[in-house]
Amino acid sequence: MDSISGQAMFLLFCFILSCFLIFTTARSRGSSRRDTTLPPGPPRLPIIGNIHLVGKNPHCSFAELSKTYGPVMSLKLGCLNAVVISSPDAAREVLRTHDQILSGRYFNEAVRSINHQDFSVAWLHPSSPHWKQLRKLSVTQLFSPQRIEATKDLRMKKVQELVNFMSESSEREEAVDISRASFVTALNIISNLLFSVDLGNYDSRDPSVFQETVTGVMESIGNPDFANFFPFLRFLDLQGNGKKLKDCSERLFRVFREFYDARIAENSSRTNDKDVSCRDFVDALIDLSQGDDAELNIIQIEHLLLDLFAAGTDTNSSTVEWAMAELLRNPKTMTKVQAEIDRVIGQNGVVQESDISQLPYLQAVVKETFRLHPAAPLLLPRKAETDVEILGFMVPKDTQVLVNVWAVGRDSSAWENPTRFEPERFLGKETDVKGKDYELTPFGAGRRICPGLPLAVKTVPLMLASLLYSFDWKLPNGVVSEGLDMDESFGLTLHKTNPLHAVPVKKRVH
Ligand code: HEM
Repeated sequence: MDSISGQAMFLLFCFILSCFLIFTTARSRGSSRRDTTLPPGPPRLPIIGNIHLVGKNPHCSFAELSKTYGPVMSLKLGCLNAVVISSPDAAREVLRTHDQILSGRYFNEAVRSINHQDFSVAWLHPSSPHWKQLRKLSVTQLFSPQRIEATKDLRMKKVQELVNFMSESSEREEAVDISRASFVTALNIISNLLFSVDLGNYDSRDPSVFQETVTGVMESIGNPDFANFFPFLRFLDLQGNGKKLKDCSERLFRVFREFYDARIAENSSRTNDKDVSCRDFVDALIDLSQGDDAELNIIQIEHLLLDLFAAGTDTNSSTVEWAMAELLRNPKTMTKVQAEIDRVIGQNGVVQESDISQLPYLQAVVKETFRLHPAAPLLLPRKAETDVEILGFMVPKDTQVLVNVWAVGRDSSAWENPTRFEPERFLGKETDVKGKDYELTPFGAGRRICPGLPLAVKTVPLMLASLLYSFDWKLPNGVVSEGLDMDESFGLTLHKTNPLHAVPVKKRVH
């Protein structure tokens, strides 16, 4: 019986594939006239198209292919039509000239598995009133210049805790997992902005469930998935990305709900009004979700918090980890940036956010890290709302558009010695990461630019400068700097495959 139903399934599968093949062949013949203006791309195999070329690190495979097929390149990934952008000029076309047409998202099956596309600031369509409401809410409550200024002591305190943790490790002459330690710092900054609590702790006995869960969210959304290429396979969830995202998000939603409910209970038992300076993001969310004219419900709140934790922790910590890895691989650059920080801060001081503007070389180190290791190497996928022309090529309606900022950052027509870590290239230049210079857009640009940018550009340099000011760094077990591997693993956020471990050596007594 089993083998009969197995054969029937197999025949049905062959039938569906044949229909699909006949259909796509007929369609491509019918549209051959229009194809002449489509962006060039590699030859396609029947049915799978170019899927076999994607690989584990799509940003690298796409960058390699674009050397042959150009900065506006077509790919056919099963049923999915994609265009990959790989030069500053083409990025400008997408992120500025045609930003309006291209700022909808192309969401995948994992996102769909928790209906995130209906609630999430990262996936909703920008014409949706809810997207506008969420962007406005996060800007006014978290990222406006006033909020950033008002929360600077919090960032200082959390970075000081990171330095204290490193001091303890240095006394034990222990190597530290830089990614994990900086994740805890980034997590505690976000969790205090949102809930006024620490969710992370540096205790290495703790398995860091939160980090694994957040990384799980990013991986399940970022992993190439067959269901995105063949929607009729959706129900099988072959790679388990849908299940993984469901599990991870449910775990996080439970945590969020506990904090939310506890705060409502606390507020209702309060006899006097809460001091304005003690109010955090969750208080603002509660205000918006209570009463007859409530603007938000708990499901929308859970999805918003998921976005903020997922987008705001891993990105920050992986950037700090890549910066440290590059500096350990380039000892002269390490010495130079430490000398600058020592000169500005002096002996026995503490790095303050206000010092960063006087540290041009440190800023250049951060930019160079963003250039070579952008946290989201393909940004988030966009979708063409209508046919649109990019650098003379026709990108048809409904195409997925990926901006490969990793490739743009290594484009030899834009950068001299593109693969070398040379922060000097930024000295005396105005080039910045804020979405105006299309050769360097690690935060995206245009209406979908990362809303957390103002926070990230404060946090990353402060963390890095503090680590470099308080400690000298060496690689464990006699690893020499040239021997440090820089392998990457893609999963929406770009990670070092082998987490960086380094030994802090205290430079001064506090
Ligand atoms: C080093 C740090 C960070 C990097 C490199 C980064 C990068 C990005 C990128 C590339 C995008 C997509 C832009 C596009 O599609 O054009 C994005 C979107 C987003 N980021 Fe960030 N981000 C960082 C930190 C943060 C932080 C700290 C937060 C909040 C706490 C945050 C929240 C978001 C949100 C909510 C979106 C979705 C916006 C939308 O689609 O409308 N990010 N980020």
